[in-house]
Formats: sequence, structure tokens, C-alpha cells
Amino acid sequence: MASPRLLIRDLAQLASPAGRDAPLRGSRLGTVDVLEDAYVLCDGDRIEGVGRMRDLGPVDGDVEELDGRGLCAIPGLVDCHTHPAFGGDRVEEFALRAGGASYEELHAAGGGILSTVRATREAGEERLREAVARHSGWMRRAGTTTWEGKSGYGLDCDTELAALRAVRDAGGVPTWLGAHAVPPERRDADAYLDYVLAEVLPDAAQLAEAADVFLEQGAFDAAQARRYLEAARAAGLALRLHGDQFTESGAIPLAVELGARSVDHLETTGGGGVVALAASDVVGVLLPASALFVGRPMPPARALVDAGAAIALATDFNPGSAFCESLPLVCSLAATQLKLTPAEALSACTVNAAHVLGRSDRIGRLAPGYAADITLLDAPDWRYLAYHLGGPVVAGTIVAGARQR
Ligand code: NIG
Ligand code: FE
Repeated sequence: MASPRLLIRDLAQLASPAGRDAPLRGSRLGTVDVLEDAYVLCDGDRIEGVGRMRDLGPVDGDVEELDGRGLCAIPGLVDCHTHPAFGGDRVEEFALRAGGASYEELHAAGGGILSTVRATREAGEERLREAVARHSGWMRRAGTTTWEGKSGYGLDCDTELAALRAVRDAGGVPTWLGAHAVPPERRDADAYLDYVLAEVLPDAAQLAEAADVFLEQGAFDAAQARRYLEAARAAGLALRLHGDQFTESGAIPLAVELGARSVDHLETTGGGGVVALAASDVVGVLLPASALFVGRPMPPARALVDAGAAIALATDFNPGSAFCESLPLVCSLAATQLKLTPAEALSACTVNAAHVLGRSDRIGRLAPGYAADITLLDAPDWRYLAYHLGGPVVAGTIVAGARQR
């Protein structure tokens, strides 16, 4: 239970993306308000006020106090792209890749995503729930207070719906990744889509907020992705795409045409894609931990931001291409590999990620009226979020006004 009021006092710094609109683009992406020697006052699950200690008047009534000395407060981190609902692991494949095998070769040989589909089907609903709870605990300890979780390792009705329920019940935002791969029992992608759109979509649309598709050679082509997404949209779901990960196969034009919330990955996006995305309302979700983990080129983040595209950052947590739940590490990669400033990285995994999840009016900032979701950094300067590469930078989190540890 959230205590009635919580005062976090004597913070070294408080940092929050400026303004109240979303998504942030261009120079506004990197505009962060920083208060030194600061406080946050929460009333139940909402932020009542933020400011400098010297401006804090008397706080009446029953207030729990938290000593913020040596800590910085940032908005609770928002991970808008994860795949936490899976059985088994891919540590064997990881070792093979370390020895030289490529992610694409393993995928084509029936390993990769399909090996996790086998393990996820075998796990059953109870173990799937345990897995999602465990993975979401890792995310929270890494400073994440809101997370999206995709299905996509079931690819049959029972397992896809079990995955969506597991994400929802663990407190995540469920996305139906019904078109992730073609399972072995289906003849081809078209036959699989016949099945999922008739048998899975009606129930998935009751559980999920969005639908997602892997538009890629060897997965679903642009025509198949369009069919899947149009059906999902008609069922009331928001749209997301995995696109331009290994090949540019038309994901950005399709996302723009269909009014998708986001197109995610973009490791192979060229100049035309950058211009098209910048001229649209679609957010480019960049996943540098995934590019690092599979040895792919980094997405053209600087070009996207400079062209005026809205971008977000996420982990892509999954067992195959990004076994990484840490948004602070993603911020470090953003600064060192994507050439984003720490301020741009912060906005990208708070307010802009919240926008991808349709929640930027309530999360992603530390300002009155927003949710009392706060990540506390064990640091004298909030930019340690990106600076402390792989270090224990997260001191704790507050979710809906309640301390998590
Ligand atoms: O976002 N690209 C497709 N899907 C996941 C990887 C899934 C896996 O390898 O299990 C991704 O990278
Ligand atoms: Fe993904």
C-alpha cells in the first residue's frame, strides 16, 4: 500500500524531462530540468510537488520521510519493448554465437526464436507466470517502474493467451506479438496468419493493448505484416512493428501508413527511412543492447534525432537477442554507441517510452499530477545513469508512491 504521503528530501539532484508534451523531438529531447538539493513530495500514488529544499514549506499531517542524501531522483524508467514471457533459455546458443555462429544462421536452422517457442509451450502457464514475475523483478531492480511485455513465444492460442495473462498479472503492459515467427506445424506464413487472425486475435484483443509483428526476411513480409496489423487495428489494438533489424523490408513506410505507435530496432535503416520517420508521428524505438548482443550495427540514432524523428530507448529483453533488462546499461550504450547525450537518453526511456505505451500524460516525468513512480540513483549527479557503465547505479524505486526496496 502507498503511504498517504511520502517526502523524499535532501536529494543531491532531481532530473526530469522539461515541459508536459510528448513525444519530445529534436533539441527538446535533450532538455531536462535539473534541481539541486531537491525534494519530491508524493500524495498517495501521485506527485504533489517537487522543488528545492530551501523552498519547501512546512509539510503538515502524516508524512513518511525518506533521506535522499547522496541520491538523485529521476522519473521511474519505462521499458517500452521487452519479451519476458518465455520458457528455458538460449545460453547454449549464446555460447555457439560467441564461437562464431551467427544469429541468422541459428534462426534459419530452426534454433533461435523457434527453440524458445518449444520451451515456452512445454513450460505451461504456471511456470510461464513464474518466469514473467522473475524477469519483471529483475527489471524493477534495474530501475524500471513501467514495462511492456510481449507474447510471441507461444504461437498457438493457449500459449499466446497465457503469456498475455502472465504479463498483465505481473503488472506489465501486454502486447500481442502474434506474428513473431511461423511455427513448425503451419505450412507457411499465410496459413499461420489464417489461423491466428481467426483463432487468437479475438481473445488476444481483450488482453493486449497493442499488436506487434516481426517484419523481416524469414519471418513476415510487408504484405503479411499489413494483413496482420490491419486486422489487429480493426479489433481495437494499437500497432507496433519490429522492422529494419537485418534488412530494410518496408517496415517504416508501412508503420507510417498504418499510423503505428512505433517501429522498433532500425539497425539497417538508411537515409530514406530516417527522413520518412522524421516526417511522421511514429516513434523509432532503438534497442542498442540487442544490436550489441547479436553483433549488429547500431541504429542511426544521431541522424534520427537530428532529422527531428521521435525516438525511444528500450532493452528488448529476451532470451536470444538481448538477455539484458537494464535501462541504465541501455543509457550507457546510448551515450557511448549512439552518440546521444545523457539528457536525450533519459527522455527517450521515460517520457517518449511512455508515449509509445499511450501513457505520457501520467508517467515519464517528475512533476505535480504525474504518477509517483520514481527511480533513485546512488549518485551525486543524475548523469551517472549513463556514466556508470554496468554499475550498481540504482538505489531503489518508488512505484505509485510505495517504496519497493
Ligand atoms: O526483438 N527480432 C525479433 N524478435 C526478438 C528476438 C527474439 C529472439 O531471438 O528470441 C527481438 O530481437
Ligand atoms: Fe523485440
